[in-house]
Amino acid sequence: MEESQRIQKLIAKAGLGSRRQAEVWISQGRVTVNGEVAQLGDKASLATDRVCLNGVELPRLEDKQYYILNKPMGYVTTLKDPQGRPTILHFLQDIKVRLFPIGRLDLNTEGLLLLTNDGELTHSLLHPRHKIPKTYRVKVSGQLTRSAQEAMEKGVVLEDGMTAPAKIDNINTSGKNTWFDMTITEGRNRQVRRMCTAVGFSVSALKRVRMANIELGDLPPGHKRKLHLREIQKLKQG
Ligand code: URA
Repeated sequence: MEESQRIQKLIAKAGLGSRRQAEVWISQGRVTVNGEVAQLGDKASLATDRVCLNGVELPRLEDKQYYILNKPMGYVTTLKDPQGRPTILHFLQDIKVRLFPIGRLDLNTEGLLLLTNDGELTHSLLHPRHKIPKTYRVKVSGQLTRSAQEAMEKGVVLEDGMTAPAKIDNINTSGKNTWFDMTITEGRNRQVRRMCTAVGFSVSALKRVRMANIELGDLPPGHKRKLHLREIQKLKQG
């Protein structure tokens, strides 16, 4: 069990500010421990206490885990596959707790997958009301036409109805292919591929590079990393 520590130290370790800054926040009454306004010198443990700065709880370290995985192509986003295909569990063998993916990527999509055992955060991020932006790097063959781009930016009619507008940027055409970033705020099944198909382009590679405030960066395929406390905090704030 984690020992109690001075609250300014917990805040600093969470990456929210320096210890000195945290002392100022404590003296301004902006920090609470289990609902009571904290005093300078108070100690707490993130394993057992609810410590809040400006009403937002610092992540409890002992029981909640937050990772991103760069899912390679060829792995299903489940922990068990009835068809016996390789699953993302392959990359999680060394983690003691059971983590669940927040959302899914297709078998042939690679990129950023958030994993956690924080059910509340999962539920909140997947709730359509929150419209969490997800950015994909998309490769299509041919040159993306202005009309196809505009159609996706307006919203496209699919079998399950009209999509919300997508944001398209960073368009690069090289040789026979075009790459672009597409940001969507819904989480429909195979949405990026279906939107591209609907405007006449077939996706030949798809990689999720960002979800909410979390960036894939240069994490290699098949590798994972823990989220930084600051990233968790921001994710929870929405
Ligand atoms: N859109 C898709 O088409 N596939 C994914 O895996 C994610 C979004």
